[in-house]
Amino acid sequence: MRRKKPLRMGVIGCGMIGALHANAIRESSHAKLVAVCDIDPQRATAFVTGSEARVFTSFERMLADASLDAVTIATPDHLHVKPALAALRLGVHVFCEKPLAGTAADAARLVLAARGSGVQLAVNYLRRFAFGYQKAKQLLQAGRIGHVNNAVLHICDGIPAKVATQPHALLTSLLSHHLDLLRFLCGEIVFIHALFRGPSCDLPQDVSLGIQFASGAVGSITAGWRAGQTRTVEHLRLSGTKGVVTVDDVQHSVTLWHTSPDDAHCFQPDYFAGGNRFYDSLTAHLESFVAALAGGKPVPVTAVDGLEGLRLIEAAIKSNATGRRIKLTPMNSLEP
Ligand SMILES: NC(=O)c1ccc[n+]([C@@H]2O[C@H](COP(=O)([O-])OP(=O)(O)OC[C@H]3O[C@@H](n4cnc5c(N)ncnc54)[C@H](O)[C@@H]3O)[C@@H](O)[C@H]2O)c1
Repeated sequence: MRRKKPLRMGVIGCGMIGALHANAIRESSHAKLVAVCDIDPQRATAFVTGSEARVFTSFERMLADASLDAVTIATPDHLHVKPALAALRLGVHVFCEKPLAGTAADAARLVLAARGSGVQLAVNYLRRFAFGYQKAKQLLQAGRIGHVNNAVLHICDGIPAKVATQPHALLTSLLSHHLDLLRFLCGEIVFIHALFRGPSCDLPQDVSLGIQFASGAVGSITAGWRAGQTRTVEHLRLSGTKGVVTVDDVQHSVTLWHTSPDDAHCFQPDYFAGGNRFYDSLTAHLESFVAALAGGKPVPVTAVDGLEGLRLIEAAIKSNATGRRIKLTPMNSLEP
């Protein structure tokens, strides 16, 4: 059988995360890095040293000249929509960093643009691909804890300088991941109730979210930024009719018990096989994105997931402002 040509890919935004995108593309057998773009030419050039990839300082130019099949977008949060729309309109698939857009309305425009040009748009909710959450999903799907009745997530992180003054950054930059994670594990969210603490309602430093899922299960996310902390720490517990599963720190270990934690099964990543660093989840996600495109299949995390994340964040902001729980209405107007 004749092997398909690798996808021609470009990276827009050559910073910290763009470097991980570029490495993941280089490692993939389905894709080839042929172009990179950054408004800072030095950054872009440093990205391609020793390779044939072309360097651009304008994403419009790159999209016009580089004959791309797909791009990844790793520009700052408020600069995702323009390059994504430009790529989608030219029929180029997009792998975009979270948050997909600044507002749910802009995310909806991206969903429609992708549908209109028949290409795929993914959002990088990489936690779905981390060891602990993959294992929890497998245990759920295998029926090991029965029906989930409640889900509890606790997250504690340092204050990232890049987004510290960006309105609602704790929600858009960090908790967009965890809202998606709970949808991934427990299904659609139908109600959200939020309480914020912080210097102003636009800059919450601590957030408590009460959640109800369409399944009837309830959940909560409590998260905060602390000055001086150097990395994210997080814990998940899912409690079901047959058992309980906990995920310790994303990928450190997963514990399953049925009657008491004294009688538990523990799962850990295979340290000898690698795959236990946080950003291995990014490589795994990007690889599954390009493999899906190469095989003509749907990508695993879609633009609708990105849109849903923003709808949930906007609902949480509204809930904190009004003191009411907010109902999430189904997205009928976007149905094909
Ligand atoms: N999925 C995750 O777990 C995760 C983790 C960290 C960051 N992120 C996201 O990744 C994105 C990038 O974050 P980062 O930490 O790499 O930021 P960064 O500041 O290190 O890099 C951003 C780069 O984009 C470039 N840029 C800005 N405007 C541009 C434009 N118009 N065209 C081309 N390049 C442009 C900048 O010069 C810079 O090099 C953000 O949206 C962030 O939220 C995701």
